[in-house]
Order: sequence, then C-alpha cells, then structure tokens
Amino acid sequence: MRSSRTPSRACLAALVTAVGLFAAGTGTAHAADTPLRDLAAAKGKVIGTAVTGSKLTGTYGDIAGAQFSSLTPGNAMKWGTVEPTQGSFNWSEADQIVAFAQAHNQQVRGHTLVWHSQNPSWLTNGSWTSAQLGSLLQNHISTEVGRYKGKIAAWDVVNEPFNEDGTYRSTLWYNGLGSGYVASALTWAHAADPDAKLYINDYNVEGVNAKSTALYNLVKSLKQQGVPIDGVGLQAHLILGQVPATLQQNIQRFADLGVDVAITELDVRMALPADSTKLAQQAADFKSVVAACAAVARCVNVTVWGFTDSDSWVPSTFPGYGAATPYDENYAPKPAYHGIAEALGGSTTTPPPTGACTAAYSVTSQWNTGFTGQVTISCSGASLSSWKANWTFGAGQQITQAWNATCAQSGAAVSCANASYNGSVPDGGSVTFGFNASWSGSNPLPTVTLG
Ligand code: G3I
Repeated sequence: MRSSRTPSRACLAALVTAVGLFAAGTGTAHAADTPLRDLAAAKGKVIGTAVTGSKLTGTYGDIAGAQFSSLTPGNAMKWGTVEPTQGSFNWSEADQIVAFAQAHNQQVRGHTLVWHSQNPSWLTNGSWTSAQLGSLLQNHISTEVGRYKGKIAAWDVVNEPFNEDGTYRSTLWYNGLGSGYVASALTWAHAADPDAKLYINDYNVEGVNAKSTALYNLVKSLKQQGVPIDGVGLQAHLILGQVPATLQQNIQRFADLGVDVAITELDVRMALPADSTKLAQQAADFKSVVAACAAVARCVNVTVWGFTDSDSWVPSTFPGYGAATPYDENYAPKPAYHGIAEALGGSTTTPPPTGACTAAYSVTSQWNTGFTGQVTISCSGASLSSWKANWTFGAGQQITQAWNATCAQSGAAVSCANASYNGSVPDGGSVTFGFNASWSGSNPLPTVTLG
C-alpha cells in the first residue's frame, strides 16, 4: 500500500545534480592561460617536451608549438633510428622535428649519441676491436652532430653511463673502450659543433645518492681535465609522491661545479586509474620539480618526456601505471599542467571548468518501508576513468542493496564506488547505478558529489 508519505510524481522525477570534481578543458590550455614557454622565458628558463615527429600536426602540433620552447626527439636521433643499416641513413623524422622547431622558434635538444640501448643490430651484433669501436663511435658522432651543426642547442652526448651504485654500467662502450669513452665522445661532439652545449644524461640522479655522486665526480674530473662538458641532464622519470627531497640541493651542487643542469625527461607515473587525489599529488610533484629548477640560475631547461598521456613510454614499460604527463589522452591540460605553470609564476587559480561530470539522484519507486533509487553520472566536456558518488541521507534512510556500484554506508554517509566494468565515463557519456533502501518519516533527496 502506498502511504500518504509517497512523494509526488514531480518529486520522484526531481534530479539533484552536483558538479563533480573532474573538470577538463577542451583540447588546449584555458584560453586565458599564458603559454608555458612565455612563463618560462620570463624566468629565463626553457620548457621543453619530447616529441614524436609523425604526430606534429593537428592538436598535438598546436600544443607542442604553442606551449614549449624546446623539443627533444623521443627516438628520432638515436643511432638505431638514424643508421638502421651500416652506412645507410634515415634522417627523415629528425629533420622533420628540427624543421618544426625552427618554424616555431624552438630549441632542439639532441638525444642521444652514446647509449647502450636502441643501437642498430649491425652494431650490437658485430664483433669489433677496441680501435674499430672507437672509430665507429667517432664517425657516428661526427656525422650526426655535423649534420645538425648550428641547429642543436644541446646534445645528450652520453646517456645513462652509471649503475645505481655509481659504478660504470657494463655496456658496449665501457667494455670496449673503458671509462675514457665519455671524454672521447664529448671531445668528438665538440669538434663537430663547438657551439652546442654538451651533456651527460642519466636517471635516478635527481637526488643526492651514490649514482648522482658518481656523476658529480665524473663531471668534476672532466672539468679538471679540460674536457668539453657543459651540463648534466637529470631525466626525472618519477613515481607519484616521490620527488627527492634533495633535488634542489643536487641541482645546486652541479651548478657549483660550473655546469648547466637540465631536467630532461620529466614524467610522474601513477597506478591507474587516475583519480582526483592522485592528479592533485601529481600537480604538486610537477610543481616542486619545476620550482627546484627555477630556484637555481644554472638550471636552464625543464623538458617533459611527452606532454600527453597518449604519447608516453610509461604504460607499455610499467603495466598498470600511466597518466604520467601534463595533458590527458584527449589533450586536455591536467592539474599537472597548472602545477608547472604555477612554478613558473603563472596563475595560481585553476581556471573555471569548461566541462564537468555531474551526478543526478532520483527515487524511481517507493513503498511504505522502502524505495529504489538511482544515480546517473554524466560527463560533458570532461571524462572519468573511475568514480565515487557520495551523499548524506537526511532522514535516516539506510541502503540495503546496490547494483552496478559498491556502496558503503556509515551512519548517514553513503559512498558508492564504480564496479570493475563501469568506471569509465567518456565525454558525452553516462553511467547509472541503483540501490534499494529503507526509509520512514520522510525521504528527502540528498545532494550527490563526485569524488
Ligand atoms: O617504431 C616501432 C614500431 O614500428 C613497432 O611497431 C613498435 C612495436 O613495439 O615499436 C616501435 O618502436 C618503439 C619505439 O619506442 C618507438 O615508439 C620501441 O618498441 C620502444 O622500445 C621504444 O621505446 C622508447 C624507449 O626509450 C626505448 O628505451 C621510448 O619511445 C622512448 O620514450 C624511451 O626514451 C628513453 C630515453 O631515450 C632515455 N631515458 C629513458 C627514456 C624512457 O625509456
């Protein structure tokens, strides 16, 4: 029997909506935002991104050109790319990136000349004497650096020479040429382009530790010997919430040796799915890295390793991890973008959302002791990869059963999380879940928030 307490049809149909936490832009940064490259320039810094040449059109090209003052070819200048067969060269992607950079008044960071990875198979499978290996390396450096002479601001000449304990990594180069390969490579690069800044680049050298101290000692020794070394690259492939506390101190100690420092491959990976808490932490992480660089005069460049989550090495290398860059897969700037901007002196207020996800609560049927409710989460100009719908019952209602979500109630507070199969709400899409609950006295409609 329906009691007199049954809500009216109008009330049954009433929807309570609340703006969710996940708001996103529509492809580029908010129109009022100053581009990152202008913010960086005002601080005397360069802001860069790694790029894939074939993607430099459309929105990807627009953002790469508008927001960044430096490009690093993610793969296009590696030996395996430029000389896949001995004596047969493919410069097409590298040339394309250099031309794009010139057209957009951007620097290019050359990456990378001497590495243990992404070498051509003819090189790694060959059996070489030390003299042959030295001559191959010298020719490679002379050819590549010479080709782009005057067009490359800085070269990552030597990449990842150290183990975590600060000993030299066992590589083709170290094993064949000894530790002197580092000085030789720098010297050959300098001969081919005396104006390019020459760097040694490595990962896990952001904080003060055994590996960064080995790098420090090497740079100090190279400087003492008069070897042309201009800078160190701290790759900064970081994990959420783990920016080393000694980052700025470490940058400063290299600067005090008389070399420049660049953050060369910044990204901050997280366990997927991303949520608002993780994205806020990521923004804080990007901000603190950029702020540490901004605080040291000789820290000249911060480069992100891909600016969009659709062009990041992380998901394929660390399954289950991703969302590591400042723009999402649809080119909407994430909180991390604003973290970078804030560290460069940009707006400290997040721009008003141009899109949002909202939650609508309704009672679909009601009887004397119970009712069925449903919540529909809809996104427009934004999207979700997971969700939680939260509300507080105002009159003692108690959830007894839920479907298409996992609901927990503590006192009057209800929190419903997505099921394994419906966490994703695309832009323009919606997801609905339902529940049964008990009521007595009255059954007011709560306000639902997304978290
Ligand atoms: O181009 C081929 C494509 O034809 C093929 O279908 C596909 C199938 O796997 O592979 C493609 O090559 C991939 C290449 O990236 C281009 O996308 C390789 O498999 C993949 O291993 C390679 O990964 C690169 C990685 O270096 C190799 O170690 C990443 O893109 C690149 O971002 C990454 O960059 C390095 C820096 O150079 C040095 N520091 C660490 C950083 C992250 O690993």
